[in-house]
Amino acid sequence: MMKMRKTMKLVWAVLLMFGLMVTVVACGNNTAEQENGAAEETVYKVGTEPTFQPFEYKDLETDEIVGFDIDLIKAIAEEGGFKVEIQSLGFDALIPAVQSGTIDIVASGMTIDEERSKQVDFTQPYINAGLALAVAKSNETIKSEEDLEGATVAVQIGTTGAMKANELKEQGIVEKVLTYDTIDVLMAELTKGTVDAVINDAAVTESFIKSGHDDIKIVGEQMNTEQYGFAVAKGNTELLQRLNDGLQKVMASGKYEQLLAKYDLPANARP
Ligand code: ARG
Repeated sequence: MMKMRKTMKLVWAVLLMFGLMVTVVACGNNTAEQENGAAEETVYKVGTEPTFQPFEYKDLETDEIVGFDIDLIKAIAEEGGFKVEIQSLGFDALIPAVQSGTIDIVASGMTIDEERSKQVDFTQPYINAGLALAVAKSNETIKSEEDLEGATVAVQIGTTGAMKANELKEQGIVEKVLTYDTIDVLMAELTKGTVDAVINDAAVTESFIKSGHDDIKIVGEQMNTEQYGFAVAKGNTELLQRLNDGLQKVMASGKYEQLLAKYDLPANARP
């Protein structure tokens, strides 16, 4: 009898231990599976200011944010096996958002410059760009930058166009700089005649004119040369590497040229 109880106790103990082991192993597996799953499903938040066609703008039918930058960052994500989620922000809110971690990536036709490079890290350049001066089609007096004496100039907040206009104001050339949140509004002000000129990225103003706004024209030479990069938080080398690797692959595969063509951008827009 005593022996029997002892044996039973032993059997129970073995069963219990076996059960525990199975549970531990199962849990272990589970965690590993979840971690793997998470790695595959990494979603980066991408911030953009979507009034900047053809780089980022709203598709009027679907209300979705589309454009060259959006397709490019999605192509990079596909190469790298991660996902992106696009969100709309004011242009001047993008750098603070990436710094605070509200977003992971800026994809917004953002020019790589020294000041910004102190605040964020940029990828390799993905577009050659530059500023252009635009006036109403009927304007016969402003033919170039030199004719901006006494002019009121409209710009988008926080942009290189705004910096340029303020420079011209400090030089005593431009009289007044009006700052707007979105490109559509500043173009509307130009059409209405509230302002004399707009300083904005050349390809964007060209695209705007081509899309049926031929009451506006570009005058003079392109004002400077700039390059766009994607931006991440300072020191986020892992994400920066992923973006640069993906960009290199997309630029080597023919996909990049396909996107230039899709958005009617010239071949020399490629850095
Ligand atoms: N390239 C200019 C800059 O970096 C203008 C960019 C504006 N982008 C936009 N999505 N609104 O300042």
